[in-house]
Amino acid sequence: MSPRRILIVGSNGLLGQKVTELFVRGTNYQIMLSSIEPASVFPVAEAQYTVVDLTVKKQVKQLVSSFEPDVIINCAAMTNVDACETERELAWKVNVGGVENLIEAARRADTRIVHVSSDYVFDGKNGPYAEEDRPEPLSYYGKTKLASENALRTAGLPWFIARTMVLYGFSPGAKVNFALWLLQSLEKGTQVKVVDDQEGNPTLADDLAYGLMRGVELGKTGIYHIAGREIVNRYDFAVRLAKAFGLDIGLITPVKTADLHQPAPRPLKSGLITLKAETDLGITPSTIDEGLTIFKSQITRTLRRLGDSNAVPAARGSGRRR
Ligand SMILES: NC(=O)c1ccc[n+]([C@@H]2O[C@H](COP(=O)([O-])OP(=O)(O)OC[C@H]3O[C@@H](n4cnc5c(N)ncnc54)[C@H](OP(=O)(O)O)[C@@H]3O)[C@@H](O)[C@H]2O)c1
Repeated sequence: MSPRRILIVGSNGLLGQKVTELFVRGTNYQIMLSSIEPASVFPVAEAQYTVVDLTVKKQVKQLVSSFEPDVIINCAAMTNVDACETERELAWKVNVGGVENLIEAARRADTRIVHVSSDYVFDGKNGPYAEEDRPEPLSYYGKTKLASENALRTAGLPWFIARTMVLYGFSPGAKVNFALWLLQSLEKGTQVKVVDDQEGNPTLADDLAYGLMRGVELGKTGIYHIAGREIVNRYDFAVRLAKAFGLDIGLITPVKTADLHQPAPRPLKSGLITLKAETDLGITPSTIDEGLTIFKSQITRTLRRLGDSNAVPAARGSGRRR
């Protein structure tokens, strides 16, 4: 039987908003939205919103037992990789404890959990990676994401995990992702440094949301790599983005990851092989040019609504530092 009631957790994040839009506009399911902020970023008449902190077991239990979802889609996480490295207790509490709370609440009703993990579960020595390759996280963020996967694997309820990487896209009010940061910087004429030794598939958030929807509709379980169609290094992606928006590529300087002295180590030769998802879920992720065209039209549509034809619309900063 196809699911009827869907709970979207982390609905205010970039992916959460894309998943919300897709499910609200494209299905007849009953939808409940939930995130930690006091209100939904974009109010959706078709769905209720409940404030829940995933780390508070009682709140999660209350939400799940009152709404009784057939499926929970978890888009919430502490996603700032460097903050996860320095604020380890909090990172574990959100990224692992939060998932354990969902599992405990879902177990009573045999609810399916759809969760999102990351290429950071791999060490980036020998990418691109297939689903069955051995995880070896370098960073604390990667460790929390792997632990969240393991919690689901051993939970004894139906689960679907999508590993993804370098999400980009535009949603009003969503946090600044790499692509938005770059756009905002180049529009202001700011010089930026972008690493040319990190490889992977930039992923349009809308494509991942669609992959999750297919997973839900087809009742799939297991791990799936859902990511963009092309593997490039971050500098090349930045140049293609600048060209797509007619911005000055001379403002972008290639650097090495080691030059940035970031707190968290990054997987360098990463990338996700998406063949299983393409075959089983019937999806065709966007190429970079296709993705950037969609990204550009999302921004243009928003600007038109706001009546401004120049600036990239403001998005939230790097999120609250809890
Ligand atoms: N972004 C990427 O490049 C990337 C790559 C690989 C995997 N992923 C995974 O993809 C998923 C979605 O990522 P995203 O980029 O959409 O993230 P995002 O924009 O940061 O959204 C995450 C959402 O979760 C919320 N949240 C954080 N702590 C919470 C808590 N305790 N209770 C309830 N909500 C909480 C955040 O609120 P605040 O903003 O207020 O903190 C935010 O609205 C995550 O699982 C992430 O790990 C992302």
